[in-house]
Amino acid sequence: MSIQFDEKAGVFSLVTANTLYQMRADGAGVLQHLYYGAKTGEDMSYRIRMVDRGFSGNPYEQRSERGYSLDTLPQEYAGSGVGDYRVPAVQVTSCSGSRSVDLRYRDCRIEKGREPLRQLPYVRGAGDTETLTVLLRDDVIGLEVQLLYHVFPSQDVIVRSARLINTGAQALTVEKAASACLDFLYGDFDAVHFHGRHCMERVPERVRLPRGVTAFGSRRGMSSHHSNPFVIACARHATENTGDCWGCMLMYSGSHLEEMEVDQTGSLRLVAGIQPDGFSWTLQPGELFETPEAILSFSGSGFNALSQQYHNVIRQHVIPQRYQQASRPVLINSWEAAYFDFDAEKILRFARSAREMGMEMLVLDDGWFGSRNDDTSGLGDWTVNEGKLGCSMKELSERIHALGLQFGLWFEPEMVNEDSELYRAHPDWALCDPGRRPVLSRNQLVLDMSRQEVVDYLFGAMCAVLDSARIEYVKWDFNRSVANCYSAALPASRQGEVPHRFMLGTYQLLERLLERYPGLMIEGCSGGGGRFDAGMLFYCPQIWCSDDTDPIERLEIQRGTSYGYPISAVGAHVSAAPCHQTGRVTPLRTRGIVAQAGTFGYELNPEALTDCEKEEIRAQIEEYHRFSGLISHGDYYRLTELEEERDYSAWMFVSPDRSEALVSLVLRHVRANGPVICVRLQGLKPDGLYRPEGGQKCFTGAALMRGGWVFDGLRGDYAAAQAHFVLEG
Ligand code: GLA
Repeated sequence: MSIQFDEKAGVFSLVTANTLYQMRADGAGVLQHLYYGAKTGEDMSYRIRMVDRGFSGNPYEQRSERGYSLDTLPQEYAGSGVGDYRVPAVQVTSCSGSRSVDLRYRDCRIEKGREPLRQLPYVRGAGDTETLTVLLRDDVIGLEVQLLYHVFPSQDVIVRSARLINTGAQALTVEKAASACLDFLYGDFDAVHFHGRHCMERVPERVRLPRGVTAFGSRRGMSSHHSNPFVIACARHATENTGDCWGCMLMYSGSHLEEMEVDQTGSLRLVAGIQPDGFSWTLQPGELFETPEAILSFSGSGFNALSQQYHNVIRQHVIPQRYQQASRPVLINSWEAAYFDFDAEKILRFARSAREMGMEMLVLDDGWFGSRNDDTSGLGDWTVNEGKLGCSMKELSERIHALGLQFGLWFEPEMVNEDSELYRAHPDWALCDPGRRPVLSRNQLVLDMSRQEVVDYLFGAMCAVLDSARIEYVKWDFNRSVANCYSAALPASRQGEVPHRFMLGTYQLLERLLERYPGLMIEGCSGGGGRFDAGMLFYCPQIWCSDDTDPIERLEIQRGTSYGYPISAVGAHVSAAPCHQTGRVTPLRTRGIVAQAGTFGYELNPEALTDCEKEEIRAQIEEYHRFSGLISHGDYYRLTELEEERDYSAWMFVSPDRSEALVSLVLRHVRANGPVICVRLQGLKPDGLYRPEGGQKCFTGAALMRGGWVFDGLRGDYAAAQAHFVLEG
């Protein structure tokens, strides 16, 4: 049993392979968080001290116990306005106008398995998943809160969410409903968060947490390039391979907030959930609101192990099940090859050449529909532009399949151009404040996905295209931040529901499409990696990681992405040199090695390649196939420290049974008479004997991990090298 309840002590223990999460309902019904960390086998409540602190008041019933204060006790799901002055997990306004929430323990339920969420993506259960539901109530306002804990013992993961139910007779307005609240009584913490911008997503930054509130998040109506919904709290001395670290990843693709507050005594509170700014939700009597899930994980041995735990849970329980094992096609995408300038003949020439080099799928990107010849028009009109193509989609798809390739198409469902048939017919289907001109971005507006008729229209329009031809893959784009988030279909009092209803509409559309086309592979995208989150990964086994395809920039972007997300989810392509985004020239081999740390594909004009380059690409694809199992299912290690300045980047994959390893290294800065590069490997069997490919001598895992592997002979700009090891004994 991974969930244990000691009724006498009121203590709940959630136990995974290596971790313990503990809480207790005390005599007053306050649900106290006791501990989250390495497994101890102990009731951890002994660490709590009731200290009388000035200005930390006492609940009325405990008025004689001056040390008993909600302001200092570690809380499992903190209410608001009743004496805990730290950031709350939940805020609700009742019909009286009172904004206080005081939750007390009522009951619990322990079950095998888990129920799906009603309208949101969720971490899929397995044989050993167990669920704890803890029931809290605020009797004064008639609010019931069900805290859900799904325990994934073999992944060392605990998934949390909350359900708010109005059990009273009057409407309630939810102003904030976090997915998780985690109090750390003692410690000295850093935070790692992942900031960025278009073309430079998920840059890890480590900050020493000061007193007060440090907050990360997005108000963009999307999880965003700018702040990924994933944060790590870690011990001040944690490194890639040592130290305590706690991850909190929101399974949500809309606006979000992660708050970390260090209080008067140095305790840390982490609260993560839907962005409360701009959010409110009316709960009529009997109605229920469910929060997105937060995926929590703890590692006592640094960031690499924490990342591997996230990689495992996402690969095994988040992405659509059929992709857990299935290999992904090596694709060629038309965007950087042709942009908007193509017809069917050109695409077929690309396809022919791609097939000769061993590629497996051709993806026709933006520009095949409506009046779309640049980004000023056509979005929303999902009808094939046969005039431009010179044939129907059916014919194009048949000819591509006849060449031996699969076929994929680009969509950007949630958007509309003013210059489109759809906008002319339904201007109120775009989000816009009454009386204002909307913010434009890339000449486009955002559709009101909170409206069922909009979702239904998109479903019908996309099905018409997908039914008309054999299409195995869809690239699902989202190319602007949301503004003017006002729906013409909702009353004034419910406008705060639009941002979240938008996400529910998008998830519904994805769900319906996958139900109708179970074989369809959807790759997520949002101007590159603007919606790279666990919510999208529930539907899309892979997400285009960045519009920046420069391999040297990608070293940073993909490294940052790897903290939370598996390599098999990272869309990465070899593109042309000079790179279209930076003008940098890099060797084809380097571009290949960097794209290998992802789903691997191409995004260049094959007709512009020399015979020699074509030959190299053929070999590159063969090599990728040789290693793809190891890359997709192996354990991934970063071999340089967080924020460490080095002349090179290095990473490695180790097969789960540790019988094989692949180490990759890219030189970022070449130096005359520079130091020899020696990299300490990770994850091998210390006593195992590993033979490097092409080498005569075997080395012990201990030697490779303690003494390292020497990469020499690297010369020239951005040279790259790989070393492949196989266990011999
Ligand atoms: C976004 C995507 C690109 C490409 C273009 C097409 O920027 O990230 O890969 O699909 O849109 O307009």
